[in-house]
Amino acid sequence: MRMSKQELLVLSLLLAALCGSLLEPALADDAAAARAKVRALCQNCHGEDGVAVLPGAANLSGQQKEYLRQQLRAYRSGSRLDAQMNIVAKTLTDADIENFADWYSTIKVTVEMPK
Ligand code: HEC
Repeated sequence: MRMSKQELLVLSLLLAALCGSLLEPALADDAAAARAKVRALCQNCHGEDGVAVLPGAANLSGQQKEYLRQQLRAYRSGSRLDAQMNIVAKTLTDADIENFADWYSTIKVTVEMPK
């Protein structure tokens, strides 16, 4: 199987994340668990705070929960296509999707209109 550089990058991030999560102690509550998973799986591209660090990745902070949930499901099912997100989303359970949507949607964002 031939893989693109992008796919290799995502796979190596996922492997690193998997190793990290095996070493992490069990977390008490959902928010802490969600945060740890965000750090492991999403922050390299979207930031822990949802401000994208990878050019071309979306800012997620303050996004509507329903929207986040729908997009993650769409990437997982393949009805929305993106080489990187399809690989990431395939590993997610419904509970993971709920946690990620919760995490990013509850980050407070302030908006300032252009002058
Ligand atoms: C390797 C980089 C990478 C990782 C890791 C990654 N993403 Fe993404 N993500 C992207 C890119 C690039 C896009 C834009 C894709 C597109 O155009 O459809 C995106 C798009 C998204 C979108 C759609 C945003 C919108 O405005 O429609 C959501 C939601 C999202 N990512 C959530 C996550 C979550 C949650 C994680 C962790 C489980 C994660 N991503 C991990 C790169 C990444």
